[in-house]
Amino acid sequence: MKNTIIAAILTLPLIWSINSCTNNSAQEIIDNNVEEQVNTDDKALLLLKTNCFTCHNPNLETDNRVAPPLFKIREHYLNEKTTEEEFVKNIVHFINNPTEENSIMPGAVRNFGIMPKMSFKEDDLKLMVSYLYKNDVSSDEWYAKWEKFEKEQAEKPQEINYEDLGRNIANETKANLGKNLMAAVKEKGAAGAVEFCNTKAIPITDSMSVVLNAKVKRVSDKPRNPNNQANTDELSYIEGWRKAKQNGEKFGPKVFESNNKMIGYYPIETNDMCMKCHGTPEKQITAETLSKIKKLYPTDKAFGYAENEIRGIFVVEMDKKIENRK
Ligand code: HEC
Ligand code: HEC
Repeated sequence: MKNTIIAAILTLPLIWSINSCTNNSAQEIIDNNVEEQVNTDDKALLLLKTNCFTCHNPNLETDNRVAPPLFKIREHYLNEKTTEEEFVKNIVHFINNPTEENSIMPGAVRNFGIMPKMSFKEDDLKLMVSYLYKNDVSSDEWYAKWEKFEKEQAEKPQEINYEDLGRNIANETKANLGKNLMAAVKEKGAAGAVEFCNTKAIPITDSMSVVLNAKVKRVSDKPRNPNNQANTDELSYIEGWRKAKQNGEKFGPKVFESNNKMIGYYPIETNDMCMKCHGTPEKQITAETLSKIKKLYPTDKAFGYAENEIRGIFVVEMDKKIENRK
């Protein structure tokens, strides 16, 4: 995005000199606004692609759906009178608190189960939802735009903000994991889904993460799988998160450099969906699920959680490739 802005700034004197006798500055402002809008749209699409489309697949085929397509959701949240502000407020509210009471799509909840709680930057979220307000994502015109965008993305060299990139990679992993987990629980029940909870099988398809040779793991201070035990540094991050939560403060991700790699920590919070396997034994975890877990993980420590607690962190390791200019 910055490249386009720089390009725009560089070409400005040229436009200036050509137009200096016709005084076209109003036109310039309009052109710049159009340019900005295009950049905002691209940013929103990229965010939607990594954060929402994995579950809310925009493609029309209906097999293996794990969530309703976004155009269906858009229809439910929009009528002739809805303002952009209302639309954004309602959807952001749901995403931050995905519960049955907050849902206005009971059929979707019945078919797919409630949407898992994920954390997004508030600004990013607003950008994505306001894009949904402005764009009819069921139109042929939009599909053409989407296809073009995907093609361009594949070819474009990108600047790197490692914190955002790591977050995208963590979110993509989480979305893939959530999708597989929801499908497995829906199909086989919690006990049957226990085997599906391993992240190792989940490929990260984002082109940037491939370029950066990114690796993702989940670790915890109370791991179910002993291979997921957090190390000293990771433990202190988890502890820091808990303390901040107690004090009602926000605790953001942590990104640092180590051996020419960029490492990012991103918290994983619990929600209602996790309780079937990480909640209170007998009460929330059924005896059947519990015995399955005990058999596979004799040293399991990952139970007794409530909602909105830190279950562990994503550790994203990225090659440090291109100068970080942000
Ligand atoms: C891990 C899968 C998953 C991801 C990722 C995901 N969703 Fe959902 N979402 C669902 C499922 C399942 C439903 C249907 C059940 C429900 O309504 O809660 C849903 C429903 C919704 C609803 C309807 C709420 C209602 O009234 O019931 C909205 C709005 C929504 N998603 C927005 C988003 C946006 C925007 C993103 C990206 C920022 C996103 N979702 C990412 C799974 C996901
Ligand atoms: C169907 C049962 C099930 C559900 C539902 C479930 N998990 Fe797990 N979880 C597991 C199992 C089994 C493992 C061990 C995976 C492995 O061997 O790596 C695990 C491992 C993890 C780990 C890695 C650290 C560790 O303890 O080994 C995290 C983090 C985690 N789960 C978070 C969650 C969150 C957050 C949710 C809810 C969004 C959730 N899980 C829902 C069964 C489940």
